[in-house]
Amino acid sequence: MWRELAAVGRDSGSGGYRRYAWTPADTDCRAWFRAQAEDRGLAYETDRNGNQWAWLGDSAAGDAVVTGSHLDSVPDGGAFDGPLGVVSAFAAVDELRARDVRPHRPLAVVNFGDEEGARFGLACVGSRLTAGRLAARDARELRDADGVTLAHAMERAGYDPDAIGADPERLARIGAFVELHVEQGRALDLDGHPVGVASAIWPHGRWRFDFRGQANHAGTTRLEDRHDPMLTYAETVLAARARARTSGALATFGKVAVEPNGVNAIASLVRGWLDSRAADEDTLAEVVAGIEQAAREHGARDGVSVEVVRESFTPVVEFAHDLRDRLAALIGADTPVPVLPTGAGHDAGILASAVPTAMLFVRNPTGVSHSPAEFAAEDDCAAGVTALADVLEGLACR
Ligand code: GLV
Ligand code: MN
Ligand code: MN
Repeated sequence: MWRELAAVGRDSGSGGYRRYAWTPADTDCRAWFRAQAEDRGLAYETDRNGNQWAWLGDSAAGDAVVTGSHLDSVPDGGAFDGPLGVVSAFAAVDELRARDVRPHRPLAVVNFGDEEGARFGLACVGSRLTAGRLAARDARELRDADGVTLAHAMERAGYDPDAIGADPERLARIGAFVELHVEQGRALDLDGHPVGVASAIWPHGRWRFDFRGQANHAGTTRLEDRHDPMLTYAETVLAARARARTSGALATFGKVAVEPNGVNAIASLVRGWLDSRAADEDTLAEVVAGIEQAAREHGARDGVSVEVVRESFTPVVEFAHDLRDRLAALIGADTPVPVLPTGAGHDAGILASAVPTAMLFVRNPTGVSHSPAEFAAEDDCAAGVTALADVLEGLACR
């Protein structure tokens, strides 16, 4: 499975993955998922939001145990973020069959669409729609960098954008959702464990900062006459770092767009996207308010206007304690497993508001993620599959 997926959407220059929602690379990932389902004799379906499902047992019976993740990527993402959860889910189904256990609850493998939000700016679109956490109308109008709407992109990929929306009947058939994911930090490595269980997801969000100044000649405009939004942007990036450091939070400007983007012109517009996360919502609000205030103060000094738009927000997620403890007991009979929080967002965080949800993490020796250098050792991936199979067996077969 890993070898088949390896080439899909991989950029030969960077070595990273560019599997964006509703692009040809995404279509290829989806074809791979469908083939995996059909090769195993699992009942394949896509839901109204384009999420893919592969069922073992009766999908209508209810109380299903569902596992899976996503196949899309960030720009130049790694191989593991998302795909490890989907590949491990299919491998765990194989393992259950090899163990000859008989599930008495339906099992499903899922691929949630557009988890990273790399193309349309909003993360977890597939699971948000399904959970009723994103209105269909708002989703359809999301635009990519070329101005293509999500509705149009879906249509071009052969899906019906008029069908999207909340899917409470589907969620009501799920008794538990377990997402396996590569760890995106080094806690497991430092603890010396190949697999861990998630306790919580930090609250996080994305804010768009528009800095508007005045385009002018780089060679003739006196420094004191400039309204240079790049300066205000730069000060804001530094302020974000300082605020995050003093609050024990995280704040990142990782994406920027400049107009007119000419080497010999002062910019008229700098648009920067802030990603910020913290252990609790009050701290997060404080950090973002502080960054916004710094942007406005510097903007006033530079003669630059500042507009801030919150593009998304995901509240803190505390995973259901009974399911979390059950997982820890199922895979930690011999050696207790670490139970750890994460600053990364996941479809599991969205589903947790509607169904009992848990996560397993697989060790990442460097902690690097959202980068081509993301890595997990084969033995650890195999330990992840065993742990997931143990969990599925414990939940669905006993
Ligand atoms: C998803 O990977 C996120 O945390 O941004
Ligand atoms: Mn990710
Ligand atoms: Mn992910």
